[in-house]
Amino acid sequence: TLYDAYRKRLRFRGTQRRLPQSLIIGVRKCGTRALLEMLNLHPHVQKNGVEMHFFDDDERFANGFEWYRKKMPYSFDDQVTVEKTPSYFISREAPARIHSMNSSMKLLLIVREPAMRVLSDYTQIKDSKERKGITVPPFEQKVITPEGEVNDSYKAVKISQYAVHIIPWLRVFKREQILIIDGDVLIKDPFTEIEKVQKFLNLPPYITEDNFYYNDTKGFYCMRNETFQKCLADSKGRPHPHVDPNVMSRLRRFFAPFNEQFYNMVGHNFSWPT
Ligand code: A3P
Repeated sequence: TLYDAYRKRLRFRGTQRRLPQSLIIGVRKCGTRALLEMLNLHPHVQKNGVEMHFFDDDERFANGFEWYRKKMPYSFDDQVTVEKTPSYFISREAPARIHSMNSSMKLLLIVREPAMRVLSDYTQIKDSKERKGITVPPFEQKVITPEGEVNDSYKAVKISQYAVHIIPWLRVFKREQILIIDGDVLIKDPFTEIEKVQKFLNLPPYITEDNFYYNDTKGFYCMRNETFQKCLADSKGRPHPHVDPNVMSRLRRFFAPFNEQFYNMVGHNFSWPT
């Protein structure tokens, strides 16, 4: 099928490797993979499946734009190539580097309620460490210091301070070049968010409500079209450990001022619980 051919990176007549015109820059654990796979349902989207770390890794960036272009998938000239690397969001260098490659780049930023993002981040790291036989302290111990404060030197807590990380992006790019997607809505009602992205990328309307169906076993929406259906891997939509609800409230109170700032900077109130 056409799909298998793509996977094998067979080259169709009239295709070439192109630099991405759109990037999913983050935020880690907010639904970046779901966003990329859902967008890829669109025939005018060509995804780059692997996270390239081109703009946030000095050595990779030093290889130059031609090197990066040659890593991209083949695409038709009416297709948008999309690359995703969630760590671009927290990179100081990425905004200017991206701008120097393409000043009209379309940036996709997906966010999620920040305390839940910390728990999701913790769970991913815990799972991967435990698979290597390393035990991980409980969530409460990672997030709260012995003095009883929120541990803001814990990386997962830092990443959820969206207001801090968005500043360099807003200095370099026009606000209209950044679409902010609500990851909590993407979980419950993917079509609503994907439709916004479809418009933002100036794609002809193609994706419909029918491309998504709720899978009871998975507990999440999965994707389908005429030729295939798929759910994300088991590592997406993991069960989280039960944690002390007081710790979650502490976290939410901690993030509240950052969230207010973020709402003001991006001009959208996500109404995350405080
Ligand atoms: P959890 O595994 O903590 O539930 P990322 O791809 O950026 O790492 O984000 C992973 C998160 O995507 C998952 O976090 C999950 O909540 C969310 N997600 C959103 N839509 C999903 C879908 N249709 N299937 C699976 N996970 C989805």
